[in-house]
Amino acid sequence: MTTASTQVVLSLTERMPTTRRYLMCEPRHFTVEYVINPWMDPTTPVSTELAVAQWTAMKETYESLGHTVETIEPVDGLPDMVFSANSGTVIDGRVLGARFRAPQRSAEADLYRRWFLDAGYRDVTMPSRVNEAEGDLAWTGQILLAGTGYRTDPAAHAEAQEALGVPVVSLQLVDPRYYHLDVALVVLTEATPTRQAHIAYYPEAFSPGTQRVLARLFPDAILATDADAACLGLNAVSDGRNVVIAQESTHLIAELRAHGYTPHPVDISELRKSGGGPKCCTMELRG
Ligand code: ARG
Repeated sequence: MTTASTQVVLSLTERMPTTRRYLMCEPRHFTVEYVINPWMDPTTPVSTELAVAQWTAMKETYESLGHTVETIEPVDGLPDMVFSANSGTVIDGRVLGARFRAPQRSAEADLYRRWFLDAGYRDVTMPSRVNEAEGDLAWTGQILLAGTGYRTDPAAHAEAQEALGVPVVSLQLVDPRYYHLDVALVVLTEATPTRQAHIAYYPEAFSPGTQRVLARLFPDAILATDADAACLGLNAVSDGRNVVIAQESTHLIAELRAHGYTPHPVDISELRKSGGGPKCCTMELRG
């Protein structure tokens, strides 16, 4: 047998999209008027009109990809209600609602709870601990990755496991700019019985122990750079093939292409002034 003719076979995995259902909230009342994360500066001008246009383009991107977008009516005085992902985690039709850390956002939780009930969801649990839903909870298809450090209470992780009936792995966030898990990590391809999940993340957003956990669980993950994280590039939405992502995240966009994904760059300049990107505005309704 020869050692000289070592062949490197590069096979690009075929990335298969699956059709999704999302819940979004038009940023008709979007402003930055309080400070609950380091991105928010009430003295920076924000255009609500531009936020609506950027949000609409994002929604139309999902629809053009064949996904269904449900909407909830925005409420005046709740400028962060656009970030629907913070208000519920839905897996197999079971809903775990939200409990916000900041009093400025607390009213959002019940508005979304009512949306779920009106939409016919029967298994709706409201958390007793601070739980900012998909802001800190990421479903890989196999396990629920659960962030803590700034918003979601670690005790909420056990509550999520019980309410949703899925195994939870706790992850420690350590950089205040990346105050939610969904600005530091994105699930690109969900696990199946025969294939591991594929994710991208920004290692420096996590504690040393958590970095080792992530390396162990996801040895083939895409590692994001400082610049990817700093434009909220990880706050992306994937259907298994198409990835809606902040347009400035050029390194991550190139990595996604190299891994067989189709990036769909979007402009999120206005929502980023509140610390949000595509994923924050997109709650996934699973089952
Ligand atoms: N201003 C909002 C907050 O700080 C932004 C939330 C963004 N949502 C997210 N899933 N990261 O609560």
